[in-house]
Parts: sequence; structure tokens; C-alpha cells
Amino acid sequence: MSESKVALVTGANKGIGYEIARALGETGATVLVGARDAERGAAAAEKLSADGAAAVALQLDVTDPLSVTAAAALVERMYGRLDILVNNAAVLIERGQAPSRTPLEMLARTYATNVYGVVAVTNAMLPLLREAPAGRIVNLSSGLGSMALTGDPEGPYPGRGCWRTTRRRARSTRSRSRTRTSCGTRRSR
Ligand SMILES: NC(=O)c1ccc[n+]([C@@H]2O[C@H](COP(=O)([O-])OP(=O)(O)OC[C@H]3O[C@@H](n4cnc5c(N)ncnc54)[C@H](OP(=O)(O)O)[C@@H]3O)[C@@H](O)[C@H]2O)c1
Repeated sequence: MSESKVALVTGANKGIGYEIARALGETGATVLVGARDAERGAAAAEKLSADGAAAVALQLDVTDPLSVTAAAALVERMYGRLDILVNNAAVLIERGQAPSRTPLEMLARTYATNVYGVVAVTNAMLPLLREAPAGRIVNLSSGLGSMALTGDPEGPYPGRGCWRTTRRRARSTRSRSRTRTSCGTRRSR
């Protein structure tokens, strides 16, 4: 069994996920760089490794059940456990759309990644998290997940109730997790 912590970050080939992977690597953790595109994942892992992190690319499309199952099987085979799961992968395809004009197809794609993807990956990784001495799940959220902000008519997201549902649903999948929002960190069991 690996001595260092094993962390998986979904959507880690760029953006915030990449930076989380980098920061976890700096702590000495072995970082599994989740990426739906294997080449982009490999390039990110290579860059992180060049900077001194123990980074390993892991093909993981959170909307693809086969990919999720294969990723969990690989983590089990290689490490036998998972210490940290960071559900970071998300899409923002509805930017600029009024909720009343958002096509259902767009909403479905958003849910597939931001909600069902979180549930699928979490459920697949739970047995491995339970093998860790102190498994942790971190779900990335956003201001759109804040009831206070989206419920405030004077706030930055007036009338964005439908997006609030996706973030709230993702949150409802939490099991002993932390949800990060732009408003702070909340802990729950
Ligand atoms: N940026 C912000 O201002 C902000 C604010 C609040 C919250 N957040 C949250 O922070 C997280 C990261 O945001 P970001 O700005 O870094 O986004 P980003 O730059 O768009 O990166 C999103 C990552 O998710 C991946 N991804 C998308 N669909 C996927 C799928 N089906 N399976 C696996 N990976 C998938 C993307 O992969 P590809 O490269 O293949 O597309 C990419 O690696 C999200 O959860 C977002 O909601 C961001």
C-alpha cells in the first residue's frame, strides 16, 4: 500500500482542478489527474511531474459509466484505497442564458456532468475511500450554489433558481464531505 496519500481530482487537466492537483502534489500526495481526454490528462500529469509532483493521469469522463467504473478499478488495482476525492469537473454551458429560455437539452447536459457525474464518481469511489484511514470528499460548488446569494433579488444571481437546484443536488450527495463555495467552506456528514 502506498505510504503517501492518494488523491483524485476530476477535471484536473486545467483550471481550478489543475491548481488543486498541483497543491495536493506539493503536500506529497500522489495525485491522480482525472481528465475526460486522455491526452490532455497525460499532458497535465507530465507538467505536474516536471514540477516535482507525483502525478498520474487517469482517464475519467464523469458522464461515462464505463469510464467511471474503469477508473475506480484502476485505482483499486494500483493503490487499494483513495484518501481524497475532489469532485471538481463541471461544465458551464448556459452562461448568458435566462433560466426561462434555457433549452432542456442544455440543462440535461449540465445535470449529466455537474450532478449525476458527481454522484456516479462518488459512488464508484466510496468503497476505496472507506479503505483509507480518513477518506475525504471535497465537492466544488459556486456562488450559484448559495441559497443566500441566489435568493437575494439584489444579489449577483437574481432569478437563477434553476441553477441553484443543480448545485444543491450535488451537495445532497455529500457524505462526510466539504463543499467549497465562493462564500466559504461548509462541513457536513
Ligand atoms: N472559475 C470560476 O470562477 C468558478 C467559480 C465558482 C466555482 N467554480 C467551480 O470550480 C470547478 C472548476 O471550474 P473551472 O473554472 O476550473 O472550470 P474549467 O476551466 O472549465 O475546467 C473544468 C474541468 O472539468 C472538466 N470536465 C468537463 N466535463 C467533464 C466530464 N464530463 N468528465 C470529466 N471532466 C470534465 C474539463 O475538461 P475538458 O478540458 O476536457 O473540458 C476541465 O478539466 C467547477 O466545479 C466550477 O463549477 C468555478
